[in-house]
Amino acid sequence: MSTSTPRKTLGTAVITGASGGIGRIYADRLARRGHDLLLVARRADRLAAAASEIRAAHGVEVGVLAADLALAADLDKVARAIAADPSVTMLVNNAGTATMAAVAATTPAQAMAMIDVNVSAVAALTMAVLPGFKARNAGTIVNVGSVLGFATVPGVSNIYSGTKGFVLHFTRALQDELAGTGIRVQLLLPAATATDIWDVGGIPLSQIDPARVMRPEQLVDAALAGLDQGEAVTMPSVQDGDAALLDAFDKARVALFASTQTGKPASRYGVAA
Ligand SMILES: NC(=O)c1ccc[n+]([C@@H]2O[C@H](COP(=O)([O-])OP(=O)(O)OC[C@H]3O[C@@H](n4cnc5c(N)ncnc54)[C@H](OP(=O)(O)O)[C@@H]3O)[C@@H](O)[C@H]2O)c1
Repeated sequence: MSTSTPRKTLGTAVITGASGGIGRIYADRLARRGHDLLLVARRADRLAAAASEIRAAHGVEVGVLAADLALAADLDKVARAIAADPSVTMLVNNAGTATMAAVAATTPAQAMAMIDVNVSAVAALTMAVLPGFKARNAGTIVNVGSVLGFATVPGVSNIYSGTKGFVLHFTRALQDELAGTGIRVQLLLPAATATDIWDVGGIPLSQIDPARVMRPEQLVDAALAGLDQGEAVTMPSVQDGDAALLDAFDKARVALFASTQTGKPASRYGVAA
């Protein structure tokens, strides 16, 4: 009979886009904290390698699910798996793709890939875990947006910014919806981070001023510190002196919406009452 005490687990963290970049660092850090993991991405070989490295380093359970989140059948497979698993306590909606080009220079396939992965998968997987999280009044959702969700680089980030605008508003709305419950929802807004997404997107990282680029390890460590501090929105690269800008942005959003509720055209349009 074994006398060893069972290992304590924080439950399973599901991480999409865990085959590289930011997601791979999340996998390492969350395992180090004591989470079991379910790693999702297309490249099964990289997921398998990550799983064995993490098992060896941290002694946690690591499952892998190879899936193309741009394919409805694969997305449904992942959604069903995580909805049915009561051990899931955390979802990191991190998978994302980018084509950094003007709309006119973006193919329909590239546009749809961004919309499918950056938008549809984030919504579908959030909705998959939500019933279980609500039933248990516990759980954590981290949605990885981008600073390009509230800004555009003209001719560069047009469709990508649109998809990350969805992540921003969807996540802020979800936070309102779940206020007062035991479910935490964090919106992470990275700026330039040194990952393969730059090559994927058509802008080599070498073209970016290195002073503006964060390492993914720094990004994830700051994001987890923000989560621990109870931040709703975490923007690791915004320095302390500028942190009030986010508050001002939120207040301006609310005030602008309130200003629309007049029911009549403004006098500058010269439309009769
Ligand atoms: N790096 C930055 O500068 C930056 C800035 C702001 C926001 N972000 C956001 O950060 C998140 C992570 O990106 P990253 O920088 O770490 O990029 P990355 O290194 O290119 O990693 C992207 C991850 O998403 C997965 N992925 C892409 N398309 C997928 C699909 N169709 N189905 C399943 N998985 C898919 C990739 O895995 P497979 O290829 O194996 O499928 C990979 O694991 C994204 O949401 C991105 O928009 C990044």
